[in-house]
Amino acid sequence: MRLAVIEGDGIGREVIPAAVEVLDAFGLEFEKVPLEIGYARWERTGTAMSEEDMEIIKSCNAVLFGAVTTVPDPGYKSVLLTIRKELDLYANVRPVKPLSGVVGVSGRSDFDFIIVRENTEGLYSGIEEIGHDLSWTKRVITRKGSERISEYACELAKKRSGKLTIVHKSNVLKSDKLFLDVCRETASSYGVEYGDMLVDSMAYSLIMHPEKYDVVVTTNLFGDILSDMCAALVGSLGLVPSANIGKKYAFFEPVHGSAPDIAGKGISNPLAAILCVKMLLEWMGKPEARLIDAAIADLLQKKIITPDLGGRASTAEVGNAVAKYIMQNL
Ligand code: NAD
Ligand code: IPM
Ligand code: MN
Repeated sequence: MRLAVIEGDGIGREVIPAAVEVLDAFGLEFEKVPLEIGYARWERTGTAMSEEDMEIIKSCNAVLFGAVTTVPDPGYKSVLLTIRKELDLYANVRPVKPLSGVVGVSGRSDFDFIIVRENTEGLYSGIEEIGHDLSWTKRVITRKGSERISEYACELAKKRSGKLTIVHKSNVLKSDKLFLDVCRETASSYGVEYGDMLVDSMAYSLIMHPEKYDVVVTTNLFGDILSDMCAALVGSLGLVPSANIGKKYAFFEPVHGSAPDIAGKGISNPLAAILCVKMLLEWMGKPEARLIDAAIADLLQKKIITPDLGGRASTAEVGNAVAKYIMQNL
């Protein structure tokens, strides 16, 4: 197993070392390949990621990634988006599940759902023109793209409650009619019970009634926005992991960004990154992945938590406590 390890920028450099400490605690055979890519490198050298880096990433089976700063400079392209496209990581899977004793904005903890975000097209097509008086970005929905993401979501729904919610805005964006129709066809052929919601009312419903949902499938930008919003349901952006899955590769990263407002202070919450390690181990079929949940429950009870959750622990202390629990209970 060759694993590319990319810390990236800002708090990516804090949460990934904590996550790697947890991964190491399992004592599994990994060849870790560290890569320095991102905005800081671009500022220093003029290159955020070289072609050689991309080749190295392709020589790995999976990637553990922190966060990169993405700026709206016309000369700068997000390395994250480049990697997602190059590796054809079409499914961005974002589980939203409360941790014991941590209550978010809804005041509820009786929910457990997964956002399945289409990850290669939509408003992230990259087809755009930037002008002085007119700028536009083309929103692309394809049958193939909608088929494969809805198939992924239906497979997942079958393993869970069998319920799917298709989130779209086809009342205004006619392109979403294709997405909706294809998702409905796929759900019917899989025998998955489904419903659909307009994205605006879905945002409201997720806050009011998160317990109603199980697998939520949506287009790229809607999935991006809803996933940060849903982090408020579990109490912190520092608690939501994600897996970018393709046919060949998998890429694990927290939902949060490089958090320049707290970077360098050693107080970022590493649990989203640590839950990415859990998703990586699950993807590898390792049952011991569940030890991570037990470790997190243990430290929440002992209040070894970072300031975003009301605690005083540092990023490194949390990583260390999780790693120690795993070594003692493996
Ligand atoms: P952000 O997710 O970095 O931060 C939003 C807020 O959440 C901040 O107040 C931050 O302090 C807090 N936060 C985020 N993660 C946290 C953690 N682990 N522990 C405690 N608090 C945490 O969003 P932003 O500030 O809008 O973006 C900063 C940069 O990150 C931008 O350049 C953006 O493009 C980039 N970004 C990158 C990724 C990625 O690489 N996957 C994801 C999102 C944003
Ligand atoms: C995410 C991020 C990225 C996205 C940015 C940084 C390119 O917000 O992974 O959610 O928009 O997908
Ligand atoms: Mn995002």
